[in-house]
Amino acid sequence: MVESNRLLRVCHIFALALWVCATGDFDRTKNEIGSFYYGTFPTGFSWGAGSSAYQTEGAWDKEGKGMSIWDIFCHKKEKTSLNVTGDSSCEGYYKVKEDISLMKDMKLNHYSFSISWPRIIPSGIKSDKVNEKGIQHYDNLINFLLENRITPIVTLYHWDLPHALEDKYGGWQNSSMVNFFNDYTSLCFERFGNRVKYWITFNDPWSMAVEGYESGEHAPGLRLKGTGAYKAAHNIIKAHAAVWHTYDTQWRDTQKGMVGISLSTHWGEPVDIMNDMDIEAADRYMQFNLGWFATPLFNGDYPQVMKEYVGKKSTRQGLGDSRLPSFLPQEKSYIKGTCDFLGIGHFTTRYITEKNYPSSRSSSYFTDSDLAELVDPQWPNAGSEWLYSVPWGFRQLLNFVKSQYGNPMIYVTENGALEKMVCTDLCDEWRMLYLRDYINEILKAINDGVNVKGYTVWSLLDKFEWDEGYSERFGLYYVDFRSKNKTRYPKASVQYYKHIINSNGFPSQREIESWKRKATEMCISSNQLLAADPLTSHMEMVTEIMVPIVGTLCILLSAVFIMFLLKGRF
Ligand code: BGC
Repeated sequence: MVESNRLLRVCHIFALALWVCATGDFDRTKNEIGSFYYGTFPTGFSWGAGSSAYQTEGAWDKEGKGMSIWDIFCHKKEKTSLNVTGDSSCEGYYKVKEDISLMKDMKLNHYSFSISWPRIIPSGIKSDKVNEKGIQHYDNLINFLLENRITPIVTLYHWDLPHALEDKYGGWQNSSMVNFFNDYTSLCFERFGNRVKYWITFNDPWSMAVEGYESGEHAPGLRLKGTGAYKAAHNIIKAHAAVWHTYDTQWRDTQKGMVGISLSTHWGEPVDIMNDMDIEAADRYMQFNLGWFATPLFNGDYPQVMKEYVGKKSTRQGLGDSRLPSFLPQEKSYIKGTCDFLGIGHFTTRYITEKNYPSSRSSSYFTDSDLAELVDPQWPNAGSEWLYSVPWGFRQLLNFVKSQYGNPMIYVTENGALEKMVCTDLCDEWRMLYLRDYINEILKAINDGVNVKGYTVWSLLDKFEWDEGYSERFGLYYVDFRSKNKTRYPKASVQYYKHIINSNGFPSQREIESWKRKATEMCISSNQLLAADPLTSHMEMVTEIMVPIVGTLCILLSAVFIMFLLKGRF
């Protein structure tokens, strides 16, 4: 179902793309890839890699952890590709030291991970019970990172709401989440804040709201069309602001850290940059995506264009109030200015054109903005239905953030390329090129004056990819999910990224060309190791299953033999 919806959407985009090409309006040359920029990043620029709890930890029901909405969702049929779950995923919960040694080898400056709320507060409500074993796990992780001089950047919520809160209260549809979340995050500040200085309240709240409560593709899988996403977002924004204020008033003086949020968005480029309707449509796209969350946090209210469009559509539906909730005046001033830094997640770009959706009784977040998304079929991709490599979009996006929100401090919290599961080639040239070009656009943006302080490649490991299951691999490290050990193998991009980190950018053409060559040489031996893997897994089975069987048989035979001897004697 999820797959077929997505396929339909992609087909729709392709059909539109072909149609626009055929009408001659599609100017592919207008955004010709700019020349490569050779140079280095400012001193102190932070290089990192990321992960999230549900996607990598596994140990879903171990050591006192409560259930999250993702545990429940994945255990239902047809929610994820091939009905897989994150029950064990990369077993990251048990491999803290091993994974940190991978980071150390790359000389990462930071590691971005998320805390699982139900792992440390099983029911979600702090006064019910705190799970000390869960706390201990994150304590160890943080301590070990710091011992290795890797700065932890900690996300407090990467989609795994305690199931009990969804069950009893309706999750993010209910404003009581604001206080529950505030209590949980206060516990994190209290227990980890002496060592953690970068806090991210929410990762990609757009997905939480739209995919969780509007389209139902993500947990908790609700399809509250036209209202669900707006209501969830409203509570998320309030929860973010409450946590920022708590930190500001109770912890900042002693802990001296920062609290931000991570917003993920595609860049939306007008199909025709000479057409005012397309330009407005592309701006609406950005406001309905990034602006939906960023504008309240920086300016105190939803983007004007969102209020107009959702308001207008709600009136035409005969509703008395807009489906987009509104903030009270005191809420606006409370929310405004609650971002010490802005996390940006970015993977790809869309062309945008105006498209009118006739008002009808049925409403949806997707039709409220009156636009259509298109892709250029010539953009490179590695078999993905949604992720095309369009590096120039990143520079545009970063400049947009600078001009819209007063040049905030930015950390790139997610950026990377996926390959489909079938791909077992560790020589991932596609990812090396993607990273080279996207990171280069960040460098250009910094030269434009955008205040980017750090970059986080998404992701350290291949892992569970939500409704896509394990069918999309984002990792710098390949994870052999078939092996009991969840063995990690470096892809060529590990070496490539190491070169970028080591040079703090892109020193010269000659050097960069040699990086690709060296990385490719190294991945050939890793490929051989991986190719030998089925043999190794079989050997594990021999020791695990055959040894006990053979042992038991030996004991039985000896017993029969002894009985036979005894019988003969008497
Ligand atoms: C999510 C990640 C996910 C990535 C790729 C991001 O927006 O935060 O968890 O792995 O998209 O789908």
